[in-house]
Parts: sequence; structure tokens; C-alpha cells
Amino acid sequence: MKPLVTRNIEKLRPYQPGKPIEETKRELGLPDPVKMASNENPLGPSPKAIEAMKAACGEMHYYPDGGCYTLKEALAAHLAQYDIEPHNLIIGNGSNEIIEFVIRTFVAPNENIVTGEPSFIIYKLAGISHNRQEITVPLKPDMTYDMDAVACTVNEKTKVVFLANPNNPTGRIFSTREFERFLSHIRDDIVICIDEAYAEYVDDPDVPNGLEYAPYRNRLIVLRTFSKIYGLAGLRVGYGVSHRELIGYMDRVRPPFNVNRMAQAAALAALDDQEHIEKSIEINRKGRAFLQAEFERLQIKYYPSQTNFILADFEKPAAPLYQALLERGFITRPVENYNLPNCLRITVGTEDQNQRFVEALDAFIREQD
Ligand SMILES: Cc1ncc(COP(=O)(O)O)c(C=O)c1O
Repeated sequence: MKPLVTRNIEKLRPYQPGKPIEETKRELGLPDPVKMASNENPLGPSPKAIEAMKAACGEMHYYPDGGCYTLKEALAAHLAQYDIEPHNLIIGNGSNEIIEFVIRTFVAPNENIVTGEPSFIIYKLAGISHNRQEITVPLKPDMTYDMDAVACTVNEKTKVVFLANPNNPTGRIFSTREFERFLSHIRDDIVICIDEAYAEYVDDPDVPNGLEYAPYRNRLIVLRTFSKIYGLAGLRVGYGVSHRELIGYMDRVRPPFNVNRMAQAAALAALDDQEHIEKSIEINRKGRAFLQAEFERLQIKYYPSQTNFILADFEKPAAPLYQALLERGFITRPVENYNLPNCLRITVGTEDQNQRFVEALDAFIREQD
């Protein structure tokens, strides 16, 4: 009998998301757990986005605009300083979907993708599910991309290089100098996909902004999302910026109504509320500094972050700590699937959540002594 599925599907393991709040309530009987597991905005969506969603409710019997005309116009205006026009944009059901488009559109069956390890696991999973070879390059000990090693690993069959900057699950960045040296070593026919899901949280000035490189390199795709700072993860909206030719090809594989009507309305309104973004950046900056200082006080190893999460290394298996925090009402993210069994990835919360989280962590550590 023929095998039911191909070998790549057999090899694939489903993506493990952060534990949902509803599941935690159900399983542990906790009234109000705090989710610090999926790098969501603890302030929630912009009030303007909430209003727009309410207003859109009565239109849900209509299919959405498949081309996302209004959202693309607004995004192009928002990104005008980079000379981005609507034809340079593709909107996805989360930037996750655009990662799928990139592989389906550009990587032929005998070609490969290259990325870092650990880096956002979807690059690998999407590669495997489409039966494309994925080659990973270990990060440096400080958990930053080894850009020279990535450049050396690229071979004649490489078609796409995925780079998350900042990287997930490490929160680390590569610098402008590293990126430019990398670009100078990379063949022009390779598609470079820079995933900037956390761009708004970065405060290190030495980070390349992918959008600034788009005019100089045709085969460059920059990914951004409404799931993180814009607080709309539940709606699934992300976008890709690239040369018109690449966008045109990705549009051929895009399903007709991939971004729903509610999501388009909310994203449009969220874009118009930069005050909410500024507030979210500020809360994150303070919260990140607070958590990092507390990790130092508690002598917990962590990797200085440029995002809205911190990778902490407990230098022994983190599963008991994960469970203890869960029972105290804090959902963090185990990263065993990234081969980091001693680490937890912790999303920065509100001031109150961060404070209570540290108290729970502190209590657990004391109990162990
Ligand atoms: C680096 C990176 N890229 C992309 C995504 C996916 O975001 P979206 O919700 O837009 O699909 C995430 C989500 O965690 C991420 O960490």
C-alpha cells in the first residue's frame, strides 16, 4: 500500500504555541492567569481598533476586500519615507502566512532555505511542510546570528535566507555592519527575507532597518506584523514589503480572501493610533529593564533583549519552574522545541504583572534553597 503521507509530513511536528489562557483556567482552575508566553501586547489593542471592530460587525456577511486596498494605501502612507507604494506590499493572515508564500513562491523542489538555529521555528516547519531542504546555522554563544557563518553556509542550491532581526526566541539583534558585510557576500539571485516582527521594540541604534535596503536590492523581503506592538495577534494580520515583481509572484499563490474583514478594519484603525504604539513601547522599555535588573538581582542568566520578551537561562531543566509559575498563575514559554531545555522565554507584561511575576519567581527560588 502507498504511504498515506510523504516523508516530510511524517517528520513534521506540529507548532507548539504558548499555553492559551482558557486552557490554563480550565486545567488549573485559576481565575485570571497572566499570559507571558506569546509576545503579545499586554495593553491589548488600541481603543480605536476596538471601535473599528465594533463598527465592522454588521458587515461580516460580506467577503473582505481580497486585495486589502485601503489597508495597503494606509500602510504605504505610513511607510512613505521609504518610498513604499501599495504595489510593494502583500498582506497576510499573520506574517506567518507570508513566510509560507515566500517558500511556496520562490523555492523550487531542489532548492534550499538557510536560517539560524535557534531562530523562529516557522521557517523550518514551513520548509519541511513544503518538502524543501532547510539548512540551519548555529547562533554564536551570545545568542546572536553568526552572519559570516550564514553567508558561508549558503550554497548553489540556496534560494531564500530567513533572518529574524531581532531574533525569536533570543531577543538578540545583528548590527548594521554585520548585515552589510553579509549582503556583500551574498549572490544577488538569493532572496533575503528579514523578519522584523519586533522592530518597534528595538532601541539599539545600531540595527539595520530592512526597509532602508529595499531600494538597493530587488530580492529582499521585509516582514512586519500587527500581532506584536499593534496588539492584534488574535486577528492575524502581517505584511511583507518588497520589489513589485516579488509581490506580484507571491500574490499568485495567496488565497483569495486571506485577510478577513474584521482584521483589515482593526489594522487600519490601529495604524492610525500611533499614541497607543508610543505608550506600548514605553511600557515595554520600562518592563524589560525592570525584569532584566531583577534577573541580575536573582543571579539568573539572561540574554539582553531588544524585544518584548527575554530569554532566561536557569542553567538546569526549566520544566519544574515553568510548572510552578503556571500554578501561581503565570504562563511562560518553555523552549525545549528550540533545544533550550534550561531556558524559559518570558514576555514583558504590564508593570503590575512584571512585579507579581518576579515575586512568584523569587518565591520559587527561595523554596529551592
Ligand atoms: C520572528 C517572528 N516572526 C513572525 C511571527 C509571526 O507573527 P504573526 O502573528 O504575524 O504571524 C512571530 C510570532 O511570534 C515571530 O516571533
